[in-house]
Amino acid sequence: MHYGTLFLTMCGIVGYTGKQQAKPILLEGLKRLEYRGYDSAGLALSSPSPTIQNFVIQRNAGPVQGLIDASTKIGLSETTGIAHTRWATHGVPNETNAHPHRAGNIVLVHNGIIENYAQIKEKLQHIGVQFSSQTDTEVFAQLIEFHRVQILKSDTTLNEEDAVLRALKKAMSEVDGHYAILFMALTIPGKLFGVQNGAPLVASKLKDGCLIASDIQAIIPYHNEVCFLPKGEILIVDENHFETRNLKTDKVSVPKIERMDWTADKVEKNGFETFMLKEIFQQPLVVADTLSGRLPSDESGAFIWDHFKAHEVLWKNAKRLYLVACGTSYHAAMTAKYFFEKWARIDCQVDIASEFRYRHPVFETGTVVGVISQSGETADTLAALALANQAGVSTFSICNVPSSTISRESGFHYPTMAGPEIGVASTKAFTAQLTILCALALDVGRLRGNDDLASFQALARLPHDIDRILKQSETFIQIGAKLKDQKIILFVGRGTMYPIALEGALKMKELTYIPSEGFAAGELKHGPIAYIDPNVTIVTLAPRDECYAKTISNLEEIRARGGHIVAIGTEGDEEIKKISHEFIGLPASAWGTMPILSVIPLQLLAYGCAKALGRNIDKPRNLAKSVTVE
Ligand code: G6P
Repeated sequence: MHYGTLFLTMCGIVGYTGKQQAKPILLEGLKRLEYRGYDSAGLALSSPSPTIQNFVIQRNAGPVQGLIDASTKIGLSETTGIAHTRWATHGVPNETNAHPHRAGNIVLVHNGIIENYAQIKEKLQHIGVQFSSQTDTEVFAQLIEFHRVQILKSDTTLNEEDAVLRALKKAMSEVDGHYAILFMALTIPGKLFGVQNGAPLVASKLKDGCLIASDIQAIIPYHNEVCFLPKGEILIVDENHFETRNLKTDKVSVPKIERMDWTADKVEKNGFETFMLKEIFQQPLVVADTLSGRLPSDESGAFIWDHFKAHEVLWKNAKRLYLVACGTSYHAAMTAKYFFEKWARIDCQVDIASEFRYRHPVFETGTVVGVISQSGETADTLAALALANQAGVSTFSICNVPSSTISRESGFHYPTMAGPEIGVASTKAFTAQLTILCALALDVGRLRGNDDLASFQALARLPHDIDRILKQSETFIQIGAKLKDQKIILFVGRGTMYPIALEGALKMKELTYIPSEGFAAGELKHGPIAYIDPNVTIVTLAPRDECYAKTISNLEEIRARGGHIVAIGTEGDEEIKKISHEFIGLPASAWGTMPILSVIPLQLLAYGCAKALGRNIDKPRNLAKSVTVE
């Protein structure tokens, strides 16, 4: 495992070869993968005829729609192609740096980073190779092409395919980094070649060809049987062949096929105006799916986990817990700290993954490291997991993609069942994470002799309660719209409501670009109170919990300074209603489930505000869904 600097791009790759026109399949795939990056896009198409004239390439700065508009007249007959949507790392997002990159006979798309690209580029330039872009990707293409030419020169009996494969192996042995590449060789029409070294590549054999992508989202509408290309194997496909070849032994194999239970309708908007709104409304179902089959079925009160014995051993011996994650998943970890400390009485520390890696955490007998990730591919989280694995402590993951690297590399995996999340700002994945963490901490508490019957019962009622909250969605969206001219929006809460306040602020800034900050309510008077005047909105989370009275005092302090208060509390709470300008009442729930309910109106406030501002809600500027870059 690699512990150095991880730099992976977060791009989307699609490839098709078969009997059908390739362009529409590639463009449709790119649209589905656009959440991975959307600053430039491109495609390359060819026909199964050994003439380079049958090759066309189109690249554009800007989102996939620009490529769709620019490519209306090309690719009407080509049946093989590769395509790419980019999130720039090396080189500005312009047409020249957009993928695919061509080097002589090789046309290549890439997701990842070539860490030693500068050294390789210098070497190649020294021997006369000309580069047209600033990307590390072009270096990979040029390197394969360079070796292909050399290999053919030194052995004229070799056929093109063998030369390309040898060149690929040689190039891979020189390249450092984590990546997935897909390419075609123009002299081998109809064939596509792919390899992965730390970034996923998924392939599927269709009736009339093969489809390859960096993510199953682009494949699922066509087929639910896929192969996750393992490291160390080269994928080689054409209209009829679908095989892998081992990089070391050259052994040819039929790829191992897995059936996915994600269906096409799960990656469509289904009548909602955005994916994010659809995903917000899926939350009752997602929470029910995440709990399905897990709730205790007998008097013991034990939750039902896969590999139950291993689960029991893990938690019986646990003395210290580190929860590590990024972004929204980090807020789930922060909330879970309250659960584990209260119920399980385990010392729990929460870390941002990019910090955990560098702060020399203490690992000893009884240390458990849990990583939380929607995508299962976040570079920093992956590196934190690798660090823990290397230290030999027990690890587990809470992850939404069972086939992801994080799910596979963690000692134990507790799946969330949120299904594909397309909106860049995470919603349903977060509620699913909190649901499983709440169930897990309750169960570990039970193992250690602490029960919280109220939270347990409220957990089973969660889908119903979320459904009730969603019935008021229009109201929340309207309150959000009224915030559109704010210069800054503050979110405050105490206890488990503190991480939820942070998540509310994150949703607001991601979607609206309005500066938004979350605070522990008790910290207000240590600085943030200086922000408050009648033009500042403070969203306050104040359910009737053990911190209620203290939070009300903080609300009074805000009111005394004229702040505009949006309060989220418990239904029927007249006291808080009186001191706030807008009041959102949530169903009375238990301590463990209240954070899950409280985040729903925050998602909708941010949504309403972003909508009123005309923002691109599913794809906020500069962000990407799966952050595989450090
Ligand atoms: C990005 C996404 C966030 C997500 C974070 C962590 O920043 O935009 O929505 O919370 O990555 O991703 P993970 O997949 O590890 O949960």
